[in-house]
Amino acid sequence: MRHRHEFEDWTRPHEGVMPNRAYYIPFAPGQNPVQAMRESSERFVLLNGTWQMQLYDKISAVPEEFCQPEFDASGYPQMPVPSCWQTQGLDQNQYSNVRYPIPFDPPFVPHQNPCGAYRTHFTVDAAMLSQQVYLNFEGVDSFFYVWVNGHRVGYSQVSHSTSEFDVTPYLVEGENLLTVLVMKWSVGTYLECQDKFRMSGIFRDVYLLVRPKQYIRDFGVRTWGRENYTRAVIQVGVEWNGGEGELEWELYDPQGSLVCQGEAATEFTIHLEQPHFWTAETPELYQLLLRTEAEVICQPVGVRDITTKGRQVLLNGKPLRLKGVNRHDSDPVTGFTISYEQALKDLALMKQHNVNAIRSSHYPNAPWFVQMCDRYGFYMIDEADIECHGVTEVFGGGDETTFGLIAQSKEFEPLILDRVQRCIIRDKNSPAVIIWSLGNESGHGPGFEKAGIWGRDYDPTRLMHYEGSWHQTGGHINDTSMFDLYSRMYNEPAFVREWLANPANTKPFLLVEYCHAMGNGPGDLEDYEKLFLEEPGVLGGFVWEWCDHAVDGGVTADGRRKFLYGGDSGEFPHDINFCVDGLVSPDRIPHTGLKELKNVWRPVRARLCDGEIQLRSTLDFAEVSQLAEYRWELQLDGVVVEEGRGELPAIPARGTACMPLPCALPQQPGRVDLRLVYLARTDADFVKAGDELGFDQLTLRQAEKRELVLQSAVLAVEEDDEEIRVSGENFAYVLDRFTGCFKSLVWNGAERLAGPMGFNVWRAPTDNDRKIRRVWEQAGYDRAQVRVADCQVLAEEGTAIRCELVFAASIRQPFLRCTAVWRIGADGTIALKLEGKRDEVFPFLPRFGVRMMLPAGFEQLDYTGYGPQESYLDKKNACWFGHFAGTVSDEYVNYIKPQEHGSHVGCEQMRLHCADAALWAAADQPFSFRASHYPQELLTSTAHNFELKKSDEVELCLDYKNSGIGSNSCGPVLADEYALKESEFRMQIFFGFAPVTAE
Ligand code: GAL
Ligand code: MG
Repeated sequence: MRHRHEFEDWTRPHEGVMPNRAYYIPFAPGQNPVQAMRESSERFVLLNGTWQMQLYDKISAVPEEFCQPEFDASGYPQMPVPSCWQTQGLDQNQYSNVRYPIPFDPPFVPHQNPCGAYRTHFTVDAAMLSQQVYLNFEGVDSFFYVWVNGHRVGYSQVSHSTSEFDVTPYLVEGENLLTVLVMKWSVGTYLECQDKFRMSGIFRDVYLLVRPKQYIRDFGVRTWGRENYTRAVIQVGVEWNGGEGELEWELYDPQGSLVCQGEAATEFTIHLEQPHFWTAETPELYQLLLRTEAEVICQPVGVRDITTKGRQVLLNGKPLRLKGVNRHDSDPVTGFTISYEQALKDLALMKQHNVNAIRSSHYPNAPWFVQMCDRYGFYMIDEADIECHGVTEVFGGGDETTFGLIAQSKEFEPLILDRVQRCIIRDKNSPAVIIWSLGNESGHGPGFEKAGIWGRDYDPTRLMHYEGSWHQTGGHINDTSMFDLYSRMYNEPAFVREWLANPANTKPFLLVEYCHAMGNGPGDLEDYEKLFLEEPGVLGGFVWEWCDHAVDGGVTADGRRKFLYGGDSGEFPHDINFCVDGLVSPDRIPHTGLKELKNVWRPVRARLCDGEIQLRSTLDFAEVSQLAEYRWELQLDGVVVEEGRGELPAIPARGTACMPLPCALPQQPGRVDLRLVYLARTDADFVKAGDELGFDQLTLRQAEKRELVLQSAVLAVEEDDEEIRVSGENFAYVLDRFTGCFKSLVWNGAERLAGPMGFNVWRAPTDNDRKIRRVWEQAGYDRAQVRVADCQVLAEEGTAIRCELVFAASIRQPFLRCTAVWRIGADGTIALKLEGKRDEVFPFLPRFGVRMMLPAGFEQLDYTGYGPQESYLDKKNACWFGHFAGTVSDEYVNYIKPQEHGSHVGCEQMRLHCADAALWAAADQPFSFRASHYPQELLTSTAHNFELKKSDEVELCLDYKNSGIGSNSCGPVLADEYALKESEFRMQIFFGFAPVTAE
């Protein structure tokens, strides 16, 4: 097909495209458009459906006549619209983060540029012919030409924005042909280097709007609170097409009663008394109807204003806190194509997990998605469709040198502005949007400064931010005066505190990304939360990210779902599983990190204060007791002994209130905890009365210091150069002099070890161990050997064996020396006392403890510690101290890339039992354990969950410490307090076997 390389033309990004306007759907005058689905509008003709599409590998291969009605397209395959080629088995899956999949040679793209030739028909009747007909595309990746009945209508780009074409002149009565040629690569590709699978096609809705000759083309709605928010003003400006007309307007309040009405031509102002203000906690919407002779448009109006006061952001005059997530349009089956149902599922899960804000990373969502956020109550950062991260990958370049390559290019300036305008103008009437974002990770330069100035000017009612603006490169002195916020990503809390301590920093701080949720993680949510709760100058943050990205790979023979990530489709370049970094799985199953997040963001937090409970609201607007009540559980040594329900006192937003303890302490000795579980009082959209909103656990009485005692005994001991054999009435144990550990534990006539026991410093690296893993491997922790320098039977008291242990790996010097003393009691109980000295030249240890493999059958598990879900030193906020029972199989946590999972910290005791024996362990200081059918070597070396083979045996790790999780896959290094980096440590743990007792 002949063309003029329009897709490589940076001087004319669009042709034949209507000027930008706010998103709205006109209805026929007789229709009620309030909260109506757009599909029900008589003026809306959805063209989605089964089209035809032929994929060509380059534009020169496309037949010249493909867009003509006479063209024989009978051989063209069917193609659902909207959809992505790659999810339909076409082209290739490719996941790339920072790196451009094409040579960096803007505005040019490779000659081998796959293009999809789409054809469909639609019917036009006589009534339509007498009107204006507009063809809308809400998202096409990345560039497309449009023809109607063979006439060229124009072309457009900016994948995640709406392109509207006036097709009136080309229509005929009866059947009409619409053809679209979608190019995979274009100059726009350079601006769409977002960290995601790179997909192509018409991936959002396509529809016609049938409109009169004279109509409301665009309108803007702005609102402000007045007189201390006892009143409000709504200002509306209207722009006409086909000459100025007259409109009638009506405003309905959130309950549906008419508040006022009037007539206007181009502007009007409404004054409200005692208005209902819109917040994410109270998403009350007025409905504004704009009626012209031939149309009615409904605009939901959230009355709210957003300002800054010093370093605080105020919504309706009150300080605001964002509890946000970054969200991509991503689904393993449908790719970028997201239906209403899929979107609602995300929003429901977010509400159910106390999320109040969404950053539409890194492009605008479908316009109806934004309206869902208005309706269900989410604050949005609406981000322009811009990321040029690949500029840092040019040869010889980097973050410090070439980040501004596009931001500072004259040629790209208008394209940056175009993208910002398409975002802001489209979504300007949405109350949910409180912050505009110019894009992501694109460096800084005049292109963004000009776009920022335009945005400030066009919409002074919202905040403007751009995270990239702190990157100073290419000698350009950054002007950031157009930004209201200082926004950064992944800084550690200490950095933020330091920044805030400097009075020269006058803007509110925003962590536009933090807590990288990849795999088992994030582990630092609560530490950031402390920062947010303590520092009013921080607006909050957006966790990276909402969902794992993966593509559907079908199911295995045994029915396991296969999710594929970077490299699984043979693509280059790719970034492996770096896209599998969400709070929910690709099919929206909450990860433990999301549960953690939910409780960290609970609406109220309790603490003990002078024998009472002090409650602090983390809400900004609503009064907590209106929304929540609670139930309580009184626990004695982790076991619930009494429970009840109660009403919360009134707790004003951000305020505190006290209440007495709901119960008396038990008489019996032991640790006493009170768990308060906050429950929704009433039904809301996605949360039903009685649903849990979060909980607190308050320790009312500490346990007395536990002293484990061993019934010492002088047992039969035999030794030779290799072994030490100890036996008693019902047991016979063999210690291996070369490992310092037992290689056989026979109890009650049966061998209870499936393999030798060993000391253990390794763990299957989590995704968040990605960086430290390399250091660990350099230190040799993954191949550590133990040398037993000395091993002696001690005669002093009872039966004891002392081993001097030296831990080192090939190449390296020893990193750890330990003294282990094993004592064996009359009943076969084993007490292990360990004293370790770590060489501080080495990095922190993944963990330290003993590991044993137990034979098949040890399936039943119970423990007293942090459960019920996996818990780590820095990831236990969804857990509480208690007594839990379950199975080893249920301890498996399904991460797409297998890794360490299922540990429990803060344990006092644990027990595993098979038919005739229980193995128990207890310590006088809290320990961590992990019981699993998936040993750490398997988890370390397997790339996908669906490749894992479950073992019948049980790996049991009893650890002095398992280092925390953190979020270092992108965020800061693990905080010292969670890392096993002490130079000296000691532990004592008891374990042994017992008959199975019925519970
Ligand atoms: C950020 C980026 C995100 C994502 C994340 C890593 O730097 O803005 O798009 O790539 O890192 O998962
Ligand atoms: Mg990036």
